[in-house]
Amino acid sequence: MKLITIGIVGMGRIGKIHLSNITRFIPQAEVVAIAHANAEAQVYAKQFGVTQFYDEIEGLLGNSGIDAIIIASPTAFHASHIKLCIEAKKAIFCEKPMDLSLSVVQEVVSLVESSKVHFMVAFNRRFDPSFLKVKEKITNDTIGTPHLIIITSRDPGPPPLEYIKTSGGLFLDMAIHDFDMACYLMDDEVESVYASATVFGAPAIEELGDIDTAITTLTFKKGGMACINNSRNSSYGYDQRIEVFGSKGMTGAKNKTLDQHYSADESGFYTPVLQDFFLERYADSYRMELIAFIKSLMQQTSSPISASEGLKSMLISLAAKKSILEKRVVTLTEMMN
Ligand SMILES: NC(=O)c1ccc[n+]([C@@H]2O[C@H](COP(=O)([O-])OP(=O)(O)OC[C@H]3O[C@@H](n4cnc5c(N)ncnc54)[C@H](O)[C@@H]3O)[C@@H](O)[C@H]2O)c1
Repeated sequence: MKLITIGIVGMGRIGKIHLSNITRFIPQAEVVAIAHANAEAQVYAKQFGVTQFYDEIEGLLGNSGIDAIIIASPTAFHASHIKLCIEAKKAIFCEKPMDLSLSVVQEVVSLVESSKVHFMVAFNRRFDPSFLKVKEKITNDTIGTPHLIIITSRDPGPPPLEYIKTSGGLFLDMAIHDFDMACYLMDDEVESVYASATVFGAPAIEELGDIDTAITTLTFKKGGMACINNSRNSSYGYDQRIEVFGSKGMTGAKNKTLDQHYSADESGFYTPVLQDFFLERYADSYRMELIAFIKSLMQQTSSPISASEGLKSMLISLAAKKSILEKRVVTLTEMMN
């Protein structure tokens, strides 16, 4: 069977994870070249057998030995990289978000759809084994019709200010994962969004026009609701929990601790600390999302997560931003006009 050959553009935190996962866990695929890897990243990549390096994505595009490109560059380059991959007829696995501008994402979605290129947007949390069990309890009707989804998503600390400057802010950078998860679990379209937010941590975040704490309420078309609470400052670590309450019961996923032991004495019960941050907590999901991408590419089945689904969670993020500015409920219909 022919191997799926892959090029990766961007060899930072997430590019390295994808390289390592493909090489270690996906025998049907091989990373053959990387663009935009600095000297340190090249040393890292060579450990995984990569020998071809290019300064820019164009090197990957001109390489006829490459079937698919993983776009792991900074967000500002995603849209242009997607367009270049479409022109070169390469399959695409693109990190979230596709861009920070709605009109650009709309243009990209329409280009992806008309080109029929194989395209997946990387909402890795859908592939987390615990969240998949939660989804299964909904789809097999164990909990009946979902009425309420509660997502707690709190980071152990804010990213560097330099990162925040170009990130698009808490909703587009961080909560977008939770908005995607809420839509995935509810299996319905969002009708409206209401958000409240503030800054409890560094005033510098406020000076950049961003927030570090937010509650967002999503109302879905069939009447279900989701409440998503986000913080960039969780003193006890990376707090990632989900609960879905339905007509016949509820289901949920707890936090993952460093290991599974616990202890108790006269002063109470103790568990180990939470897994450090997203690279550790979601390690399984980063592997599983790539397995799903490669499988869909090999079998020519539809993409596990389409470009238009990336647009949906972006619209919710932008509606949440607007809701804060205008202190009102914002409908998704008005966001599209
Ligand atoms: N799905 C997730 O959980 C998740 C987690 C982290 C990051 N991300 C996304 O992945 C993307 C990269 O984030 P990161 O944390 O790995 O960033 P990073 O800063 O660690 O790495 C970015 C890489 O892109 C390269 N780069 C810089 N300019 C470039 C250009 N013009 N063309 C091509 N490559 C260029 C850099 O050399 C670097 O190797 C972002 O869009 C981010 O939102 C997603």
